Formats: sequence, structure tokens, C-alpha cells
Amino acid sequence: MAAGPSSGLQLELDASGSGMDINFSGPLSEQPSFSLSQSGTFVKEDFVINKSGIAAVNGTPVPQLGVRLGDLEMLEILGKGASSLVRKALHRPSSTMLAVKILNVFDKGKRDQLLRELRTLYSNPLPWIVGFHDCLYDEGAMYIVLEYMDGGSLADVLQIVRDTGSGGLSELVLGKLTRHVLEGLNHLHHERHQVHRDMKPGNILLNSSGEVKISDFGLSAELDSTKEMCATFIGTHAYMSPERLSGAPYGFASDIWSLGVTLVECALGEYPYPAYEHGNYFVLLSQIINDPAPSLPEAQFSAEFRDFCAQCLSKDPAQRPSAQQLLAHPFVTMYADERRPFDLAGFVQTVSAMYRPVT
Ligand SMILES: Nc1ncnc2c1ncn2[C@@H]1O[C@H](COP(=O)(O)OP(=O)(O)O)[C@@H](O)[C@H]1O
Ligand SMILES: [Mg+2]
Repeated sequence: MAAGPSSGLQLELDASGSGMDINFSGPLSEQPSFSLSQSGTFVKEDFVINKSGIAAVNGTPVPQLGVRLGDLEMLEILGKGASSLVRKALHRPSSTMLAVKILNVFDKGKRDQLLRELRTLYSNPLPWIVGFHDCLYDEGAMYIVLEYMDGGSLADVLQIVRDTGSGGLSELVLGKLTRHVLEGLNHLHHERHQVHRDMKPGNILLNSSGEVKISDFGLSAELDSTKEMCATFIGTHAYMSPERLSGAPYGFASDIWSLGVTLVECALGEYPYPAYEHGNYFVLLSQIINDPAPSLPEAQFSAEFRDFCAQCLSKDPAQRPSAQQLLAHPFVTMYADERRPFDLAGFVQTVSAMYRPVT
């Protein structure tokens, strides 16, 4: 069946799972952009989401993955974004740990972003992309059920390393991580033709098997910042490319810039633009747009690493290499496993052992 955003009937499995009833009909162009049925069902274009998960896509019922809110035992908070909370949760029937990202979806912009993300996530699992289990809706909140990454994010790892007083992460660790991140970005850019839009340390996740995965693509940083405090606003713009901040069109090269800022921050142990410290948004904006790009000092880092960051941080987006080109850069190849074996899993385990939950 040819199906798209304007396909006709939407099927909804009722919450008890005892049967199926047709809940919405007619061309969706006649529907409001979002509707919530009395039974607590979220409907948007080709998605129907209810308490028992995604029930229909393109009008076709989806096999239930079996995640129900009542089956989840919500545990500690893993982290907070500007408008989201991420909790660890135990899925009781399978004794599996999951991560549940909770957002309220009253804001139309947010809902649209979220649905875009879902559409992308709702496809085949990949080794460099955080697994998506299900999405549940209940009483104004959206619960995105994700693979639990027990090493937390690169932002968490950096914070823990900073707390030990040892500055940033080693070039070797960053070389290892960079390969995985580039594989993920290359897939997003090349196969899915999608710009991540919010590359930053908080969206690079690690686990104790030594896997590194990217998350939150399609969830724009602007989503988090519109009505929020200045500090949040700064946080979400800090990794954006000069062309994006100046309102010019932006694309894949914008993600490469964000990767460059992420790497420089992780290597130095601090965010490279000084205005960030002072919480001055307009100065930060001006520094990113007008000042020379940040760079790594010669004394501490290899020529390969410095060149890699310099290329990612070309002010002119046309000068930035693609993720695919960067996979062949000497910084990535010199830290390839066959040349420089390293126990990334052991590293993540050691760092996680020092982890303190957010309160
Ligand atoms: N799948 C996950 N597994 C483990 N921790 C996660 C997961 N997703 C997010 N987190 C944690 O929650 C924090 C907040 O996530 P999020 O709401 O996406 O905000 P941000 O991306 O701005 O950090 C992350 O920085 C990370 O520490
Ligand atoms: Mg995130």
C-alpha cells in the first residue's frame, strides 16, 4: 500500500489490547496537526501512539514490542536536558534496564520535532545509533524508551574526568570515539540524508561493552531552548556552526563543526569559547561567528589531531570534509584498533564506577 503523511484511515489498538477500533478517518489534511483521543492516544500523520506504545504507522498496525508504562519501574534520573528528563527504568517482564526520556508535548514545535525523531528512530538498529524500543504517551507526557547506555554520555565522562583534576580526555580515547561517531554521522548523512542538528557531548553515549552511539538526531537543539533560561539557551547553541548561528542555510557540514567543538572541548577539558563561562549569549554568538575557530595547542596534541579539528572547524562550511572523508583522516586511521589496541570497554567501566547519579 502506498502510504505517506496523507494516507487515509488510522487504526488504533485499544489500550487493553483486546481488539482494534477505527478511531480516526478521513484525509489527514483535514485533521488538526495533533490530536489526542479521549482514550489518551497521540495521533500525528502516520503515527498512532498510546499507553501501550506505537500502535499504527501508515495505518498498518505495528507488532507490539511489549513495553507498557505499567511494566516499567522508574529508577534514578540519568540526566536532564532543558525540557526533558532521562530516567533509568527496569522493564520488569524481561528484567532489562532501559532509559526513558520523558518530555511534555503540549508545545506544537516540540511535538513536530519529536515525531521527526521517531520516524528516523523507527527503523533498523545500527551499531552507532542508540537503540529505540518504543514511544508511549500518557497524560501529556511522551515517554521515549531507549536502549540504556550504562556509560552515560561523553558530557558525563568528561565531567567525571574533570572532577579527578586531570583535565581533558586523552587523545587516544578521543581517537577511538571519533571513529564511532563518524560512522554514525556518515550513516545519517549518507544513507538517511539527515542532518543531526544537535551534535554535542550530551548526545554521544557510551556503554560498558565499549560501544559508542549517537542519540537525539532530529531533535533540534532549538526545541530545548525557546522559552528556557538563558543558561540553557547558551548551552544549546554552544555547538552550533557559525553559518547556522548567523541564519544562513546549513547542512551536513554543520554537524562536522559541532563534532570539532566537541573534540576540542573534550581534549582541553573545557569549552573553548570564553564567553560561555560568563554566560553572555550575545558575546558567545559573536565569538563563534566572527573570531578565529578554536584550536588545540601544539605542545600537547599530535599534528594529526590538531589538523583534524582545524578541518572540522573551518569557518567556511564548504571547506569542511564530509564524515566519510574524515574516516580516512590520519587522526582516525592512526588510532585504528589494529594499530593502537585499547580497552575502551575497560575505560568506560572504570569511569562509570565513579559515576554519581544526578539529583
Ligand atoms: N539512552 C541513554 N542511556 C543512558 N543515559 C542517557 C541516555 N539518554 C540520555 N542519557 C543521559 O541523560 C542526559 C540528558 O539527556 P537529554 O535529555 O537528551 O539532554 P542532553 O542531550 O542535552 O544532555 C544525557 O546527557 C545522558 O547523561
Ligand atoms: Mg540528548
